[in-house]
Amino acid sequence: MNVHPKIYVAGHRGMVGSAIVRQLLAQGHPTDRIVTRTHAELDLTDQAAVRAFFAAEKPDQVYLAAAKVGGIHANNTYPAEFIYQNLMMQANVIDAAFHNGVQKLLFLGSSCIYPKLAPQPMREDALLTGTLESTNEPYAIAKIAGIKLCESYNRQYGESHGVDYRSVMPTNLYGTGDNYHPENSHVIPALIRRFHEAKVSNAPSVTIWGTGTPRREFLYVDDMAAASVHVMNLSKATYEQHTQPMLSHINVGYGEDVTILEVAQAVAHTVGYKGDIQTDPSKPDGTPRKLMDSSRLNALGWQAQTGLAHGLKAAYADFLKNYSE
Ligand SMILES: NC(=O)c1ccc[n+]([C@@H]2O[C@H](COP(=O)([O-])OP(=O)(O)OC[C@H]3O[C@@H](n4cnc5c(N)ncnc54)[C@H](OP(=O)(O)O)[C@@H]3O)[C@@H](O)[C@H]2O)c1
Repeated sequence: MNVHPKIYVAGHRGMVGSAIVRQLLAQGHPTDRIVTRTHAELDLTDQAAVRAFFAAEKPDQVYLAAAKVGGIHANNTYPAEFIYQNLMMQANVIDAAFHNGVQKLLFLGSSCIYPKLAPQPMREDALLTGTLESTNEPYAIAKIAGIKLCESYNRQYGESHGVDYRSVMPTNLYGTGDNYHPENSHVIPALIRRFHEAKVSNAPSVTIWGTGTPRREFLYVDDMAAASVHVMNLSKATYEQHTQPMLSHINVGYGEDVTILEVAQAVAHTVGYKGDIQTDPSKPDGTPRKLMDSSRLNALGWQAQTGLAHGLKAAYADFLKNYSE
């Protein structure tokens, strides 16, 4: 028998999936024990194709990092695609995994599962205690369903089949492999692109939306991958000791938040932009604070390693290598 489990990483070309593959390889997992398929090779919304793939490959473990992901604009414009595709992908992968003997699976969710007005920092038990943010509610509902799929398979098949499906909820991520699209990217990649372009064009100032005072948390993607592998590899007894059957997901955050202005200053510093940073209070700020409570994960022996300055340096190097003209 091979000592290394055969691991399927769904979404291996995405930011998180590619970081998970890097992490597994860095930990000495052999390349030939990692199974991947591109979206073109395997559409995870296609139930028959997913079943055939699992029947043929018979992986031992699954990291479910494939998802339809996007910012506010995309979520607002394509809500049907966001809820349908994410529900289908999760349901297909989780059910096919079960029917093909997979005992260990890790589902990746998002901090948007929590109510809009959840107390800060957001604890795992804030789930389903209030109304979600309306813009990405369809996406969040799909992610909540993903957690509940894992828990339900554990409840029904945990004893009889050894099923042990876990979920992690990352905070905002950034780093290698991020999306730098001008209209459709998250805070940090958008700032990296803007400050880089301002530096190149010698622009005297860069204006950021809102007052700059909202606080946000950011985690470097390789830390997220390390946390994912850590949670996957925890013993069942340890995992069960720190979670409940119907409240089993685990937050993954950096542990501290920063203001948007502070992030902008840190990005400007990293990029080497010397001009002014201005705020535009006429633009909406969004929620004043979004921070995860990651004490559950910390108690399970994991802590983020990469500070913002170091992470931004790596992210900017990746941007320069892959995305700047
Ligand atoms: N990025 C963040 O800040 C962040 C924060 C919190 C949580 N997360 C979670 O982490 C997970 C991964 O996010 P990410 O940032 O890595 O996203 P990403 O870079 O967009 O990667 C998602 C991957 O899923 C694949 N995919 C999408 N639809 C598919 C389909 N129908 N069949 C097969 N593959 C499909 C994509 O392939 P194509 O590109 O070819 O379609 C892509 O490789 C998601 O569950 C997300 O909710 C991310």
